[in-house]
Amino acid sequence: MTKLSVNINKVATLRNARGGNVPDVLKVAQDCEEFGADGITVHPRPDERHIRRSDVYALRPLLRTEFNIEGYPSDDFIDLVLKVKPHQVTLVPDSPTQLTSNAGWDTKANLSFLSEVLDGFNQAGIRTSVFVSTDPEMIEYAAKAGADRVELYTEPYASSYAKGREAAVAPFVEAGKVARSLGLGLNAGHDLNLENLHYFYQNIPWLDEVSIGHALICDALYLGLQRTIQEYKNCLR
Ligand code: PXP
Repeated sequence: MTKLSVNINKVATLRNARGGNVPDVLKVAQDCEEFGADGITVHPRPDERHIRRSDVYALRPLLRTEFNIEGYPSDDFIDLVLKVKPHQVTLVPDSPTQLTSNAGWDTKANLSFLSEVLDGFNQAGIRTSVFVSTDPEMIEYAAKAGADRVELYTEPYASSYAKGREAAVAPFVEAGKVARSLGLGLNAGHDLNLENLHYFYQNIPWLDEVSIGHALICDALYLGLQRTIQEYKNCLR
């Protein structure tokens, strides 16, 4: 079964726009779970422009499904994750001011840094995932660094889907095979949506998890959160 982890950063962005507590990020996370999400993802950034550190602490005891915290492993981030102890941490190579993640790690150049960080999380019993492109070498070095999983950066798939989905998915299928041959679990995320998700899943059915935020929250404006989550879950069957 491929799990659907809902990234709720956009909900926090909406809340922060007015300074109050509407929409209530904690309630939305719990509702996502009730409506069928298999996990919740948050990406706390240093400027707290969407998810805040306090949200991360508050979510931990409330969630009944898998909690995934993603972000750049700064000292603050590492400290937060070790205190909160989510089920999974996903390491992303983005700078503090970046709008959204737009590339995977160079796991070869960052091998010693990643090895050290991953070792700390492994020792704390937190499953680790490293955000990478489909380059087989990047996946091999993620395994060398000690990751449990890789998360494939799917923006290139999403942006070329309309031009030809077979060609768009091909490098991801190959990357998925490399990960599997190395004993790594496989996650995917970025710009996945109701149009492109099912085909991705059909071609890589051994995918462990997709993490989806932007499109899902946008769809919820039209379809409602409950129906949206059910439709994304239907794409993973
Ligand atoms: N995976 C990672 C590592 C991300 O940084 C993001 C965006 O925060 C996502 C998945 C979700 O991407 P999207 O919001 O486009 O669904």
